[in-house]
Amino acid sequence: MSIRYEAANQLFHLQTKSMSYIFQAIHGYPAHLYWGRKINEANPRRLLERTERASFSANPVPEDRSISLDTLPQEYPGYGTTDNRNPAYAAQLPNGTTASELLYVSHAIVKGKPQLSGLPAVYAESEEEAQTLYIQLEDRVSGLAVELSYTVFEAFDAVIRSSRIINNSDGVITLQRALSCSIDFPHDRYEMLQLSGAWARERYIHRRPLTPGTQSVESRRGSSSHMNNPFFALLSEDATEDHGEVFGFSLVYSGSFVGGIEVDQFHTARAYLGINPFDFSWRLEPGESFQTPEAVMVFSAEGLGGMSRTYHEMYRTRLCRGAYRDADRPILVNNWEATYFNFDADKIEALAESASELGIELLVLDDGWFGRRDSDNSSLGDWVVDRKKLPHGLDDLAERVRSRGLQFGLWFEPEMVSPDSELYRAHPDWCLHVPGRRRSEARRQLILDLSRADVQDYIVNSVSAILDSAPISYVKWDMNRNMTEIGSALLTAERQRETAHRYMLGLYNVLERITSAFPGVLFESCSGGGGRFDPGMLYYMPQTWTSDNTDAVSRLKIQYGTSIVYPISSMGAHVSDVPNHQVGRMTPLKTRGDVAMSGNFGYELDLTRFTEAEKEEVKRQIAMVKELRELTQNGHFYRLLSPFEGEETAWMFVSPDRSEAFAVHVIVLNEPNARLERLRLKGLDPERRYELIGTEDVIGGDELMHAGIVRPRAHDDFSSIVYRFKAV
Ligand code: DGJ
Repeated sequence: MSIRYEAANQLFHLQTKSMSYIFQAIHGYPAHLYWGRKINEANPRRLLERTERASFSANPVPEDRSISLDTLPQEYPGYGTTDNRNPAYAAQLPNGTTASELLYVSHAIVKGKPQLSGLPAVYAESEEEAQTLYIQLEDRVSGLAVELSYTVFEAFDAVIRSSRIINNSDGVITLQRALSCSIDFPHDRYEMLQLSGAWARERYIHRRPLTPGTQSVESRRGSSSHMNNPFFALLSEDATEDHGEVFGFSLVYSGSFVGGIEVDQFHTARAYLGINPFDFSWRLEPGESFQTPEAVMVFSAEGLGGMSRTYHEMYRTRLCRGAYRDADRPILVNNWEATYFNFDADKIEALAESASELGIELLVLDDGWFGRRDSDNSSLGDWVVDRKKLPHGLDDLAERVRSRGLQFGLWFEPEMVSPDSELYRAHPDWCLHVPGRRRSEARRQLILDLSRADVQDYIVNSVSAILDSAPISYVKWDMNRNMTEIGSALLTAERQRETAHRYMLGLYNVLERITSAFPGVLFESCSGGGGRFDPGMLYYMPQTWTSDNTDAVSRLKIQYGTSIVYPISSMGAHVSDVPNHQVGRMTPLKTRGDVAMSGNFGYELDLTRFTEAEKEEVKRQIAMVKELRELTQNGHFYRLLSPFEGEETAWMFVSPDRSEAFAVHVIVLNEPNARLERLRLKGLDPERRYELIGTEDVIGGDELMHAGIVRPRAHDDFSSIVYRFKAV
């Protein structure tokens, strides 16, 4: 890893183990030259082709007609001074105009990676493992300044970028757009991949060729959303799971975002990512600055799989934090689909008793334990135990669960308030709202205004009081609606459009305070399943409830799509009842277990109703998860067969030293007289031989990967098979 500066050409060359990222100041404009496989020498004359275009692309430097900002590939483009493409930033300057241009002033290279204040971010554990470059840019006319930040790590083929926009003028500057990164690719022969879906159908993979105009993913919902994940990738046209060039863009942010690619008239492709400028503005008084979230840009010359493994490793080890980052995640039972709101202390204790017989390690009490919460109509905000359901309180229940040998976990939805609650009656202005307008409810709830310090304090204090009141080892932090009527009672008229981002800053403040006050607690984030499955939340909580859809067949697509960016150790996956509560499907218990094992494993059904045969199967599953979780949490993940391309899905894990592997293969609909196919494994050591556990077979890694193993014929729909290998 290195960041080199060549003064003669004002050229910056960022290198990681197999990637180069190069840019240069040309007439002061930060021009992008190259991003891709590592090259040793960066020759700007050869890397950038400069051509004069027609007069419709104007020239900022009259004596050099080969330069127009409309054609120059750039690092952080502006608007109004010859570039007519999508800008990285837009600002209304003190004189009311919007034209600006940023020129190079200076730079600094520092060891390590300084933290972003108030925002989640990838971190370096030592000064030696990363380097950061800061570039200072300035609009000479207005005093608007920007500091671009670029970090590279020794271990990852990635560039981590963010921007800080500074008002060095003596008037007010209003930001209208402040993206985290922008980069111009010299041509448009790429495809775009995105993760999109809906509640219970999150992160399906979509891939399409680039076409002229803008193709984008975005959220205007006040959270990263079920609909589009804050991620996209650009793939060379020939890129597959294992081959070809892939450029990933992932935003470490949990609010409204935009990510897109604009293909322009010259067939160049501008990729950008950041906070959604829609309904956003930010007022900067003289001397103030605005810090964007960071974008993690990953390069892979080994297809999508290579990109995913870089994201997995980086997010698992340098984004997630806390005691549980590297620890075994407990096998849990959650009472939600077992009881919904209909439980009492005895019922929960009975669940704990069955769970303990089976080897489960944690019982999570979900929604309904507080206020008068017998349905989703009331009580959010009143974080006081419901003595009707739990007459002896949480402490007593937690102790009863712990006496069975299980840890105790608890559900909260702290960002919300029910209009029917003591909190709302006392503080009707504490929710997001616009005076004089309806407060639109969703699930009979409103969103607390987390841009306010008093609301932040209330949440920290009320959640902390509960966590202090009982031995609670796990928290599920839920959030079940999107924003409407976005306004804050405390902000002035000209700052109302700051509300949604200030909410996110407030949320991050709350999460930082609570998670650092309770370092021994495992936090899992949730938003109606995976409505906020993003890197921002993973910084505070190392796991996320992947989807409210617990059906094993639906989960194939959801978990496969999620694995494009997110580590397996971040995904909650539970075995639930049949017929499945979301889709009504009947699947075998074994298949449900095999699919959930590739995630943070748990059960979400009434364990007390298991037959003896089911108990035996569950005990077998739990014993297996305990043996495998080190491998599934920390191993390298390979996708083998895509659920988006047929009836079969397969994936596998390989331990970092390649001595162990675990593969899962699921056949959804059985086909009569199907072709005889083989499953080719990946990531093994071709020089070693592997025992297929449970058989007499010892097979070469080369044979397993190149010739593959016979795919057994299915005798049923929804069947699954798992393979475990150990190097001999
Ligand atoms: C939505 C979550 O995704 C579910 O798992 C459950 O916790 C419910 N909320 C409870 O209201």
